[in-house]
Amino acid sequence: MAQINAKFVTSNTDFKNCPPARFPEFAFIGRSNVGKSSLINSLTFHKGLAKTSQTPGKTQLINHFIIDEKWYLVDLPGYGFAKVSKEKRKEFEKMIFDYLIHRENLTCLFVLVDIRLKPQAVDIEFMNRMVEDEIPFYIVFTKADKLSQKQVNESVDLYKNFLLEMWDELPPIFITSAEKHVGREDILKSIEQLIQS
Ligand code: GTP
Ligand code: MG
Repeated sequence: MAQINAKFVTSNTDFKNCPPARFPEFAFIGRSNVGKSSLINSLTFHKGLAKTSQTPGKTQLINHFIIDEKWYLVDLPGYGFAKVSKEKRKEFEKMIFDYLIHRENLTCLFVLVDIRLKPQAVDIEFMNRMVEDEIPFYIVFTKADKLSQKQVNESVDLYKNFLLEMWDELPPIFITSAEKHVGREDILKSIEQLIQS
């Protein structure tokens, strides 16, 4: 895999202040602590590019990175973070949804879910909202290193069957471990394909 050039651009609370929308953009979202920032660091081969933490709620802004001077990668705050006040959570949600709905160059959203958990209401609600708002998304299972291969397969099958009860077809699905750098090539390939299509 060729070296990736990744640079931090800006952090914003308001999508209107995000960098000019002149490159295709790919954003990473999911519950707090699911591993968004870690996956971004794995994808870009830059350990400290996106700030990670064991404490949920680390990423609180819309963070833009420019990759190889040709696409934007965006690290978003987690949704469903229980430990902040109701007002703060509303503020976060507004910030995230305003960004998702209005960002014209958002090519695809990667929705991260922890592979160890059964389908969680907050993730399912979020994905259904993306379907309603016609925001294209892919699903990424994180922390696969925490399970055996057998458990990984069982967990993914269970999730797929759950989704197929609601939807006629599934979006592309990725199984990843930021820790072991699993799945990053597949994600990078899918981004490359979307940029070229
Ligand atoms: P917020 O910014 O708070 O929303 O969290 P985040 O989704 O960006 O999660 P972050 O990347 O900060 O990771 C949260 C915790 O999970 C950290 O302690 C990471 O080390 C751990 N983690 C993330 N990805 C993996 C993984 O693939 N495997 C393992 N074992 N741990 C991981
Ligand atoms: Mg983060």
